[in-house]
Amino acid sequence: MLRELLTLLLVGLMMPLSWACPTPTSSTTDLSSTPPTTLGTTDRLVFCHFIMGITSNRQSATDYDDDMKRAKDAGIDAFALNIGTDPFTDTQLGFAYESAANNGMQVFLSFDFNWWNIGQGSAVGAKVQQYADHSAQLKVDGKVFVSSFVGDGVDVNAIKSAAGQDIFFAPNFHPGQGNFDEIQGALNWMGWPSNGNNKAPTPGQNVSVAEGDEAYSTALQGKPYIAPVSPWFSTHYGSEVSYSKNWVFPSDLLWYDRWQEILALGSRFVEIITWNDYGESHYVGPLSSPHTDDGASKWAMDMPHNGWLDMAKPFIAAYKAGVTDALPFIDEEKLVYWYRPTKKDVNCDGTDTTTQGNANNATGDFFAGRPNGYESMADEVFVVSLLKSPALVTVQSGDQSATFDAPAGISAHQAPMGVGKQQFAVSRNGQNILSGTSLKDIVDTCICGIYNFNAYVGTLPAPTTIDRLQPAGLALLSQGLKVSCPTNTLGVSGTSSPTLVARV
Ligand SMILES: *[C@@H]1O[C@H](CO)[C@@H](O)[C@H](O)[C@H]1NC(C)=O
Ligand SMILES: *[C@@H]1O[C@H](CO)[C@@H](O)[C@H](O)[C@H]1NC(C)=O
Repeated sequence: MLRELLTLLLVGLMMPLSWACPTPTSSTTDLSSTPPTTLGTTDRLVFCHFIMGITSNRQSATDYDDDMKRAKDAGIDAFALNIGTDPFTDTQLGFAYESAANNGMQVFLSFDFNWWNIGQGSAVGAKVQQYADHSAQLKVDGKVFVSSFVGDGVDVNAIKSAAGQDIFFAPNFHPGQGNFDEIQGALNWMGWPSNGNNKAPTPGQNVSVAEGDEAYSTALQGKPYIAPVSPWFSTHYGSEVSYSKNWVFPSDLLWYDRWQEILALGSRFVEIITWNDYGESHYVGPLSSPHTDDGASKWAMDMPHNGWLDMAKPFIAAYKAGVTDALPFIDEEKLVYWYRPTKKDVNCDGTDTTTQGNANNATGDFFAGRPNGYESMADEVFVVSLLKSPALVTVQSGDQSATFDAPAGISAHQAPMGVGKQQFAVSRNGQNILSGTSLKDIVDTCICGIYNFNAYVGTLPAPTTIDRLQPAGLALLSQGLKVSCPTNTLGVSGTSSPTLVARV
C-alpha cells in the first residue's frame, strides 16, 4: 500500500515534468499541495562523490581547501572519496583528510570496485582502519561511515574484522545482487534514467531514477538509503584511451526534476554524483579544481558547471530542514541556465575519432560517432530561476526568443535552442533586475572536431571570475583530435566559439 502511494506520488510529481511539447514550457511546484514550510532540523546528510584517481598532481592539503570550502558553503556535509588502488592514493587521502579537518568538512572512503576486487575484504577493512581515527572521518550513529562504487559480494565480515571496529557500511550494492542483510545502508548510483543496463533508455526498456528509489527502498527494508542526484551524463572516450565509452543518459532538466523528487522522498542521505568526474560530465565542482587529464578535457574545456552547485544550495538547505519548499532558502535571486554547445544533428563524423577504430560492434558496448542515446537530449535551453517574488524571465537563444512568468521560489523553463548568442534577463515591474549574455555561443559546427554533448552552465549574476581547466587538466587535449583546438577560449576576445571550429 505504501509503495502504491509512493508510486502515485512520484507519478504525480513527474507529470508536469514531461516535455512532449516543443514550445516554451515551465514547470513549478504546486505550492498549494505541498505541506506548510516549517524550518526544522533533521539528521539528514548530503554527500558528494569525489574522484581521487585524477588528483595525483596535488602537492599538499591546501590543494584541497577550495573544494572543501565550496562544498561546505553549498551545504554538503561530506565528500565520498572514491579510491582505486593507485600508488598515490594514501598521499592524496592524507591531504584530503587534513584539508577537510582544517575546513570543517567531513570525508569518508568510497571503495571503487572497478579497481578493488571483492576478494579483498581484509585489505578494504585495513584501509578503513587506517583513516578511522582521523578527526575529519564521517561517523554516523557513532560508527565509521564507509561506502563504495559497486562491490556486490564483497566479504562484509572480513571488512569489519580488519577494520577492528563496527562500521556503518553503506555500499553501492544492487537489489537482487548484494546481501542487504549485512549492510547498514546502501547507495544507488543510477541518478539517470536508463535502459536498466547502463545505456540510454529505449521505448521498451526505460527505467526512471524513481524506480531505482523504489527498488532500493524495498531491498533496504527501512535501513537508510543514499539517494543519488546528478545533473548530467555524457561521456565520449574514443580509441585514444584504453576504455572507450560513448553514451549519454537523458539529462536536460534532470538536475531540477531530481531535486524536487529528493525533497518529496526525504531519504536519510543524498549523494551528489559528482564533484569532479569530468569524464562523465556530471561534475558540479570547478574546472579549476586541480586534476590530471584522463582525456576528458576535450568535452570539459570551456564548460563550467558551477551554476549547478549554486542551484543546489537552496534545495540542499530545504532537504536538510525536512521541507519540500526551497523558497525560504533562496538568499540571492539568480538565474541558472545551461545548454549543449551544438544542436544534436550537427555532423562531426569526418573529424570525430570515436568513428575511428574504437567500435566494438560485437558487444554493442561502444558506439561510433554520435554518443548512444543522443536523441534523448532536447535542442533546448534550460533555465532555472531562483526568485523571492514573481518575475518575467526572457531567453534570446540565437534568433529564438521566449518569455516565462516565473513564480517565487525555484522554477524551471525550457526555450527553443537557436544558433548564435545566448542572452538572458529577469525583469520585474518593467525593470531588468538581472541581464546578460552568455560567454558561450551555440554553434552549428563541431568544436574541436568532436561530438560534445556536455552542457555549458552559466548564471546571472555572472561569476566574477571565469572558471578554467588548469594546464594539468588539459594535458591530453589534442590526443585523438583531428583539428586544432584552441585552449580556454571563454571570455577571450577574438576566439569566441564560432572561430575555433573546423568545417569539414
Ligand atoms: C522514458 O520514459 C520517460 C517518462 O515517461 C519519457 O519521457 C521518455 O520519452 C521515455 N524514453 C524513451 C526512450 O522511451
Ligand atoms: C562497426 O560498425 C560500423 C557501422 O556499421 C562500421 O562502419 C565499422 O566498420 C564496424 N567496425 C568494426 C570494427 O567492425
